[in-house]
This record gives sequence, structure tokens and C-alpha cells, in this order.
Amino acid sequence: MCGIVGYVGYRDALGVVVDALRRMEYRGYDSAGVAILDGNGGIAVERKAGRLANLEAELDEAGAAKFAGTSGMGHTRWATHGAPTDRNAHPHRDCSGKLAVVHNGIIENFAPLRRELEDAGIELRSDTDTEVAVHLVARAYAEGPTAGDFTASVLAVLRRLDGAFTLVFTHADHPGTIVAARQSTPLVVGVGQGEMFIASDVTAFIEHTREAVELGQNQAVVITADGYTVTDFDGDTDVTSRPFTIDWDLAAAEKGGHDYFMLKEIEEQPTAVADTLIGHFVVDENGGRIVLDEQRLADQELREFDKVFVVACGSSYHAGLLAKYAIEHWTRVPVEVELASEFRYRDPVLDRSTLVVAVSQSGETADTLEAVRHAKEQKARVLAICNTNGAQIPRESDAVIYTRTGPEIGVASTKAFLAQVAANYLVGLALAQARGTKYPDEVAREFAELESMPKLIARVLETAPQVRAIARELAHVPTVLFLGRHVGYPVALEGALKLKELAYMHAEGFAAGELKHGPIALIEDGLPVIVVMPSPKGRAVLHSKLLSNIREIQARGARTIVIAEEGDDTVRPFADDLIEIPAAPTLFQPLLSTVPLQIFAAEVAQARGYDVDKPRNLAKSVTVE
Ligand code: F6R
Repeated sequence: MCGIVGYVGYRDALGVVVDALRRMEYRGYDSAGVAILDGNGGIAVERKAGRLANLEAELDEAGAAKFAGTSGMGHTRWATHGAPTDRNAHPHRDCSGKLAVVHNGIIENFAPLRRELEDAGIELRSDTDTEVAVHLVARAYAEGPTAGDFTASVLAVLRRLDGAFTLVFTHADHPGTIVAARQSTPLVVGVGQGEMFIASDVTAFIEHTREAVELGQNQAVVITADGYTVTDFDGDTDVTSRPFTIDWDLAAAEKGGHDYFMLKEIEEQPTAVADTLIGHFVVDENGGRIVLDEQRLADQELREFDKVFVVACGSSYHAGLLAKYAIEHWTRVPVEVELASEFRYRDPVLDRSTLVVAVSQSGETADTLEAVRHAKEQKARVLAICNTNGAQIPRESDAVIYTRTGPEIGVASTKAFLAQVAANYLVGLALAQARGTKYPDEVAREFAELESMPKLIARVLETAPQVRAIARELAHVPTVLFLGRHVGYPVALEGALKLKELAYMHAEGFAAGELKHGPIALIEDGLPVIVVMPSPKGRAVLHSKLLSNIREIQARGARTIVIAEEGDDTVRPFADDLIEIPAAPTLFQPLLSTVPLQIFAAEVAQARGYDVDKPRNLAKSVTVE
């Protein structure tokens, strides 16, 4: 999400910055901008919605002389707060026009900060959360204990910001200095000879230097042409950052050192889920409440819905299946989950009191879009869960939750899927809160549990070597079956879909209870069956039923690969391979149990020599029916 670059040195800064933005295009963006300092108290800013080429055309028209200088910064924006327009594009400037900022991430407490600035008579000119940061630094620089001290002013403001952010500031009166900081989102320093860089990732400066420093959490850095200083947000230099030498080529650097984007995206899942949750729980006088991103639905409407439909395709549909378990459990409202392509061609019963939740990573999938339109024609209200700000589906919906994963380049959905699951749960909690089916403290507790999931997802990623070894052993079998019960069932479907689309292997997911009604006939000696075990601490009946299913298939010769909670020893005797995941509340377990299945499918595909990012016959956005 968003590409950031800053440069101080001796080269033409505009050239360095635009080249860097071009190299970070793969991160995805919907607008771009630059700020170049002329060294004499001047700063030239240009920003433009759309492709980098639009910005370059503006820069050409303005003429190179206007952007002459040896320090500056640039930004490619993936819209979160505010539409992808010229006025919301970065850099943003303070009222004097001398101070500029670029930002990646979300400033969670921007609303009270914005009010504070407006109360002080400052007119904000964009819809972004970012702009508050530049005005706050300008005020700290103008008066009070940090007056006139650029770095101290930035640090003072950083201490007031909540959320996940990388921020980079330049000041026309300090042309040889850039001040930057990170909290959760990435920032790397590139160390050159007589020049320094900062960027979201090393691709931005890899052609100029291979010496880099990775900043730690909640660290700030000041760069000049001669060096850099890392501190915490209090200015204390007693902190640890990680110098390293980049030994990747450019293509590998874009993929974070992996062979494929998808592998990087699997690793990004803790952040994708954490970012999706940011800002959705606002503390208030009653303890706190869930908020959506764009809410054009009254609370009264949320209270009056008597039915929910979730419509989506592919992996997004599987995320929707999980929504059913959560929404019905928390709200007692009936939920139907339907493939968008089926929904629109039958005659579903819809009216004003139906909520349709449309789940789509791209926001452009033709079937889902048409399902949304059909629902609206029937007067139903639509809530979109989408990864792409400003896409058609959220534009046509009455409310939106964005999954903030950044662009997903691998065709097979991974981080977007997990983020969709989290966003669906937010919908469930928002409905439960509006309808009073959960007390505010219960909603707060569920949200807190959800917020703790990214750490557990990171722990599941540690199973990768074991999962890969199993995958390599099974890379050439003809069929793999997946079994689950309750929320493990959609996980089984998702595991099978990943394997089909990436490894072109026959794979099927089953509800374990259905085994005896047919699929058990498929079981034969050595057939691999991946089983998603529910928590033994959840509903005991689910656990014991699945345990007997594993026994049944093992007795018939299946090779059982079991994903089970750590410490679930009851399953051990029946698992030929046991992949252990951390304990989690039943509804949230899919955020963990899906991850080994993604790793498994990717490894099988690699072992079979297939392109993991671009499976045959598939497109990332399916804009035709
Ligand atoms: C599977 C996959 C697809 C998409 C489906 C819907 O890995 O990526 O099944 O989930 O095409 O796409 P969106 O979510 O963009 O509507």
C-alpha cells in the first residue's frame, strides 16, 4: 500500500524520486505526487490522480526548472481516507506552503485532531487523515517549546498520533534534511556516498545503493546528505535499527526476496488483518463502538433488517460463508450466502428490510456488481467489503468496509481473503451492536479478540517449513481432499480452491458430516486428506465428531494431514502429519487454519513447476460474466 521515497544528496532529486515511484508501481496506487526543494526556501509540489504518467505529463508541462533541486520526496497513494482525486493526492502542505508530508497508513485519531485544527481556524483542503499531520507540525514549529526546531516539531506530533503510519516531512527552510518515522508500516533507509534515501521498500533506491537500514517500530529518522540519525519518538538515540546489505536483484526486491508475489502476500497477512481492523473500534463514553468506513445506512436501518444475504465469487464467497456463522451467532438474523452468479439469475426474496453484503477484493467482479445492482433494484440495502477504494461495487453500495491489504498481485487471493473474513466479522459486530443483541462490553471483547489475531497468524507462518515439506512429498499425487466442520468447512473449500487454481490438481473440500453420504467412497490407500480440526476447547461435540471422521478415513487407508490446535493430543494418534496452530476462539480459527493451506498449495504448485502468481486461465479481476 502506498509507495514513499525521500532523497537528500547531489543528484537531480526529481529524476531520483520519479524513478523510485516507477519502481514501486507494483505496490499499487491510484494517484502520485512529488515535492522538490530548491535549496533557497522554495518547494515545488505536483500531484495527480491516476497513473504516474499523468503526473509526469504535468511535470513536463510545468518545466524542469520549476523542479530543480537536490532534495525532495515522492508518493504513490493507495486511497484509504478520501477518494483517489488530485486534492487527496500527496504531498499535503501546511498553510504556509513550506512544510510538506507524505504518508502511508492510517492515522486513527485523525477526527479529534482535525476538529482541534478547525477550532484553531485552520482550513483543511483534503478529505485525508494525512493532512492533520502537516498542520500539527506547522503549529509545533511556529510556537511553543519546539518552535523553530523542525525535527523536534515532528517528534512532538508523532507522539500524538495513533494508528499505523509511515510519515515523511520536508521543510523548505531545511532543504538538506528529511524527517521520517514509522509505526507499524514499513520504512527503510538507503545509505549512499554523499546521498541518503528513505523509502517504503528497497526497490526505490536499489540502483543507487545496496546498503540499507531497516527501522524498528516507533522509530524516527533524520537524513541529511552525510548521514542519518535514528531515534524513538522522544528523540532518544538509544534504539536498535538493523543495517543490512541488499543482495537481491530488483525483481526479487519487489517480491520481498521471494520468487512470487503470492508468497510475500501470504507473509503480509498479519499486517493485512491488523490494518483492516484499524479505526473500526472507536472508544466513547459507553466504552466504545464499531464503525464502518463509509456509512450511508442509518442505525435504525441496521436495526430493522430481517435478513442478510452475502453475495460473492470464489474465495470471497468462502469468506462470505464464514460471515454466516458469525453474523447469525451474534445477531440472530438469518443469513444466506450465495454465489453472485446464481443470486442474480434466480429470484431471491429481497426488499427494504434485506441487507446484502457484497464481498469483492477488486470491487469490479461482474457477477458481484450485477448482484449488487439487482439487490438495489429490489430496494435492498447493500454493504460492500472491498479492497479497492473507489471501485464500482463500493461506489454503488450504501455502506463500505475496506480491507486494507494493499494491492494483491498474485492472482490467487490470500491476504485479501483473510482481511475479508475479518471485515465480515466487523459487519456482524456492527449489526449486533446496532440491534443490541450483544452488550457493548461483549462487542468490545470480540473486537479485542479479533485484534489479537494478527500475532497468532504470524505464529502460524512459522509452520511454513513443515507444511512445505509435506507439500513436496505430495506434489505428484492426483487428488487431495479437504475436510472440515462448522467454520472449518469453508476453510476446507478454500484450501481445495487454492490447490486447484495454483497446482491444477484435483481437490475437493467437504463438510466432514457429509463423508458418509458419498465422499467416503473416494477414500483409498494413501489418498491425502487434509483435515481442519476444531478447537477442543470450543464445542466438544464438533471436536469429537471430527475425531471419529478422521478415524474412519484413516481406517480406510487415507493419509491424514491434520491441522489442529496446539496441545490437542487426542488427535495425535490419528494424524499421519500434525500441523499445530495456536488456540483461538472458534469463530476466529479460520484466520489461522487457512494459512497452512495457502502455503501448501503454493509449494505444490512450485514443485510442479507452475507460475504461482499467474495460474493458467485465470484473471485477477473478472469483469466479464
Ligand atoms: C481465488 C480468487 C478468486 C476471487 C474471485 C472474486 O483465489 O482469487 O476466486 O476470489 O474471482 O474476486 P473479487 O474478490 O475481486 O470479487
